Amino acid sequence: MQLHDLTWPDVEDYLQRSDGLMIPIGSTEQHGPSGVIGTDAMVAKAIARETGVRSDLLVGPLLSIGVAEHHMAFPGTLSLRPSTLIALLQDYLHSLAQHGFRQFFFINGHGGNIATLKAAFSEIQTGERERGGQRPLRCTLVNWYEVAEVVRLRKQYYGDQEGRHATPSEIAVIQYLRPDLIRKQPLPPPGPLQSEVQGAADFRAKYPDGRMGSWPDLATPAQGQVLFDAAVRGLAQQVPTFFSEGG
Ligand code: NI
Repeated sequence: MQLHDLTWPDVEDYLQRSDGLMIPIGSTEQHGPSGVIGTDAMVAKAIARETGVRSDLLVGPLLSIGVAEHHMAFPGTLSLRPSTLIALLQDYLHSLAQHGFRQFFFINGHGGNIATLKAAFSEIQTGERERGGQRPLRCTLVNWYEVAEVVRLRKQYYGDQEGRHATPSEIAVIQYLRPDLIRKQPLPPPGPLQSEVQGAADFRAKYPDGRMGSWPDLATPAQGQVLFDAAVRGLAQQVPTFFSEGG
């Protein structure tokens, strides 16, 4: 069930039985020469949508732009500064809180968002306390690629060639979701991981084609389907558990 597909009386009815909402968040950023710019956003949105169907819980609108400063030396990337994303999240969640939503489960597709999401949760909870909210807002995030069964599959399928960015696992999920976007462009095996990246120009100098130690050529749509199902299965357990703990 998606918020965009409901009417306001539908939302009022939903709030009678749950005060929880799932929110997908991704990024709009380069994913190497064979991965599309919308990878993180499309994967998070699809996984959240299917988790919502299986758990009969509501999914809010996708946040499709995240913190992607490291990727800004590659065209097509968009990046919010952390303070912008925090401000956006404050307005998003406080709007929902006004209607009675109290619990928010973020399904995240991009590692660069994690620190900012956690800072935003703290800002939002402080703001709610200061405005005299009766019950605290509960916020959590899970990275779909860190669901236990997904972690096991990523190791099994790709080993060290999973790498850290433009990974075969996320490319495989896109191949499953959007076969029309499959690029047959062969890439060489990945180069080694480098020392810590300091900003956009340094990223491009260290990883000239945008990958970080990954070999997306290993991805197949069939693996993508297995990874997608594993993520949804794990989340369809975790999300209701989180909401029931605060209910
Ligand atoms: Ni990604």
